Amino acid sequence: MFNFTFHNPTKIFFGRGQISAISKEIPADARVLVTYGGGSVRANGVLDQVLAAIEGRTVFEFGGIEPNPSYETLMGAVEVIRRESIDFLLAVGGGSVIDGSKFLALAPFAVGDPWKILSERQRVDRALPLGTVLTLPATGSEMNSGAVITKKSEQAKLVFSSPLTFPRFSVLDPTTTFTLPVRQVANGVVDAFVHVVEQYLTYPVAAAVQDRYAEGLLLTLVEEGPRTLAQPEDYDARANLMWVACQALSGLIGAGVPQDWTTHMIGHELTARFGLDHARTLAVVLPATLIVRREAKREKLLRYADRVWGLASGAEEERMDGAIAATRRFFESLGVPTRLSDYGIGAGSIPGLVAALEAHGMRALGERRDVSLEVSRRILEAAL
Ligand code: NZQ
Ligand code: ZN
Repeated sequence: MFNFTFHNPTKIFFGRGQISAISKEIPADARVLVTYGGGSVRANGVLDQVLAAIEGRTVFEFGGIEPNPSYETLMGAVEVIRRESIDFLLAVGGGSVIDGSKFLALAPFAVGDPWKILSERQRVDRALPLGTVLTLPATGSEMNSGAVITKKSEQAKLVFSSPLTFPRFSVLDPTTTFTLPVRQVANGVVDAFVHVVEQYLTYPVAAAVQDRYAEGLLLTLVEEGPRTLAQPEDYDARANLMWVACQALSGLIGAGVPQDWTTHMIGHELTARFGLDHARTLAVVLPATLIVRREAKREKLLRYADRVWGLASGAEEERMDGAIAATRRFFESLGVPTRLSDYGIGAGSIPGLVAALEAHGMRALGERRDVSLEVSRRILEAAL
C-alpha cells in the first residue's frame, strides 16, 4: 500500500427528515446564498424545507445553475455574493449545483479572473463556508473537495480541488431523490460505479481493505441500482444508493492506491463538445478503456472478473473478455448506451477530441501516466 494522508471533514446528516438539522449548522446572523438548479427542488418541496430550516437568517437565492455548471452562469452568482456580502453558501441539488457552489466558495478570493482556478490551477487561500443538501446520488461531490466546471465559450470542462472546498456538512435524505427521472437514477449508478472502478481497477498494491471495500461498493451498485429503477419508492434501495454513491468518491477507497481517471478525462471532452450527460460519456469510454488497456490492468481485471462478476474459471483471456462484456451489459441494462455511434458520433470526431485533450494538458493519463494521446485515440476508436 502507498503512504497516504486521509482527512475528510464533511459532517453527514443521513436519513428522513434530516434537512431540519442544518438549522444548528449555520450561524444565526449568517447572510446565506441558497444555490440551486433549474427548478426541481422548488417543484418537489425540498427548497421549502431548506428555507424553513434556516428561517431567521438573511437569505438570498441563486437558481439556474445548469447541469455541467458553467463559469458564465456562476459569475452571475459571484456578483450577488459581492453585492450582498454573502458569508455562507448552501447548495441544494445534484453534483452540478454542489460543484458550482464550490467554485463560488473560492471565486470571490481569486486573484484576477476566477477561471484561473481551473485553467492555471491557481491556489486560493480563503473560501466561503459551504453546506449542501444533496438530491441526486451520483458524483460524491457532497463529501469531497473536487468540482468540475465548464467554460462554454472555450468548450472546456476542467477540474479543480482545494482542501477549502470540502462541504462543512451535507444532508443526504433519500426521500429527496424520489422525484428523480429514471434517466438521472441510471446516470447516478453508472457514475458511482465508474468512480469505484477508476480507483480499484489499476494494478495491485496489496491494499486489501481498499480492494474489499471497493468490491463491496460495486456489488451494492449492481444490486441496488436495478432495484431502485424497478421500485422507485423503495426507501431502503434509495438509501443504499445514496450512501454507496457518496462512499464511492469520499476518498476512502482511493487512499493508498493507484488511481486511473482516464475514462473521466476523455468523458469530459465528450461532454464539452457534444453535451452528453457525464455518466453517459463514462458508459461509452470505460469498456473501451478496458479493451485497450487490458494488459496493463491484467491482474486487477482478473480479480474484478472473479469478485464482481463471479467469473473464476476458464482461460484468463475469456475471463477478462467476460468482465468487460458484463460491465457493458450492466450499463445497457440500466438504459445507458455504451457506444459513441449510439449518439451519432463517428470516427470523424476523434481528431478534434484528441486535440482537445492535448489543449487541456491530458497527455499522460492513467495509473502509470502512460495513456498518451495516441492511446486515448485508440480508446476513442474502440468506443465507436
Ligand atoms: O437542475 P434541476 O432542475 O435541479 O434538475 C436536475 C438536473 O436537470 C435534476 N435533478 C436533480 N435532483 C433532482 C432532479 N430532478 C428531480 N428530482 C430531484 N431530486 O437532475 C439533472 C442532473 O443534475 P446534475 O446535478 O447535473 O447531475 P449529477 O449529480 O450527475 O452531476 C453531474 C455533474 O457533476 C460532475 C459532472 O462532471 C457533472 O458536471 N462531477 C463531479 C464530481 C465531483 N465533484 O466529485 C465527480 C464526478 O465524476 C462528476 O465529474
Ligand atoms: Zn464521475
